[in-house]
Amino acid sequence: MTIDSNRNATSQCLVLKDFEREAKKKLPKHIYEYVVSGAGDEQCVRANTRIFQTLFIIPRVLSSCSEPKTSLKVGKTHLSFPFLVAPFGVHKLVHPQGEEATALACLDEGITLGISQHATVRLEQVRQVAAKGSHWFQCYILKDRKITLRLVKRAEEVGYEALVITIDSPIFGYRPIDTRNGFQRLPNGLHYENYDDEDKKIYAFANEGDTGGFDDYIDKIFDANITWNDVCFVKQHTRLPVFLKGIQSVEDALLAHKYGFSGIIISNHGGRQLGSAVPTLQCLPTIVQAVRRQLKQENFPILIDSGFRSGEDIIKALALGADAVCIGRPILWGLACNGIIGVKKVLGILKREFIDGMKLSGCSSLEDIRKLQLISKRKFAKNRKNASSNCNGKLCKL
Ligand SMILES: Cc1cc2nc3c(=O)[nH]c(=O)nc-3n(C[C@H](O)[C@H](O)[C@H](O)COP(=O)(O)O)c2cc1C
Repeated sequence: MTIDSNRNATSQCLVLKDFEREAKKKLPKHIYEYVVSGAGDEQCVRANTRIFQTLFIIPRVLSSCSEPKTSLKVGKTHLSFPFLVAPFGVHKLVHPQGEEATALACLDEGITLGISQHATVRLEQVRQVAAKGSHWFQCYILKDRKITLRLVKRAEEVGYEALVITIDSPIFGYRPIDTRNGFQRLPNGLHYENYDDEDKKIYAFANEGDTGGFDDYIDKIFDANITWNDVCFVKQHTRLPVFLKGIQSVEDALLAHKYGFSGIIISNHGGRQLGSAVPTLQCLPTIVQAVRRQLKQENFPILIDSGFRSGEDIIKALALGADAVCIGRPILWGLACNGIIGVKKVLGILKREFIDGMKLSGCSSLEDIRKLQLISKRKFAKNRKNASSNCNGKLCKL
């Protein structure tokens, strides 16, 4: 695959928000709005990013941090940085090279990539073009479990390192903006490429374009009745580490641990499911506290996504106890702006912001980040009123 020649498209993009501005110029309105929008009145989408603006890092100094260590192991995967690319469908909606371009960019940058069941490039093809890359496969549990198990088996056979089961989507959240834009089905020529002919026969569709559109497709194949039994059933059929994506409550986090999953991804699907779901960063500290209390020796990674827009956002989540972060929409903006180069640039900026943030907060390891104190705007105002209150100790953590 050739790298896009349009190198200038992102030359003015210095922070992740710049890519969104450029993507907005490049993409048709209905596609741009499909990517950025959320469910309902989008309370959750707004809150997901705003919460980061209400939190400040209290930096440490004089701690010799010229070469911070950023790598860690999550499940069987070695991450060079504590972030990976979240799984999302239909990369080809924003760029003709779709998931192949994203995979090559991630390979170059040494970043793990989540590939969705709804990818517009087959899961085997992704592994073929970026064979040395690190990939996780994400699926939903469908009405016909045979299709789900076949997808999982295929992912296992071609070298995916983990399985992510998304559990926040018994149905798909209603996004009025897509209705307003008349965007109800994939554009001609684009398909969810991961289904085999046999799968399509079961639901009697040649491709999702032949159904009544997104809603009809979801009605036909998604199962709103899934329970813990079903996710455990899929877990029993794979040797891959299995992460549950879409956990938002302490109770569900503890159940995921109890049932032996490899870890969780705290996620509200970027605000695309429940319109007024709680921002994930807000649930993080209580989930971390409850889960860590249960742990004995075992490792139970807690990942998080939704609303992360800078390397310093990642630092804040780690300071609140997350192990790693999944990056969502900014990857699609980079891809829309300039294919492989755009995604590489987004990842490069995140790395730089993360490393600079570590050095400027006096952290030479991920462990140091966990010891960092954060203070919220509200607490800051309270502390100013009451000069005797101090910010030492975990009290300052949200
Ligand atoms: C266009 C789009 C498609 C998505 N498709 C999927 C998907 O197929 N499977 C999934 O588990 N999550 C999907 N997600 C959710 C992402 O994995 C992730 O949770 C979300 O983007 C994080 O929020 P952020 O974009 O604010 O960072 C999608 C998100 C977007 C924006």
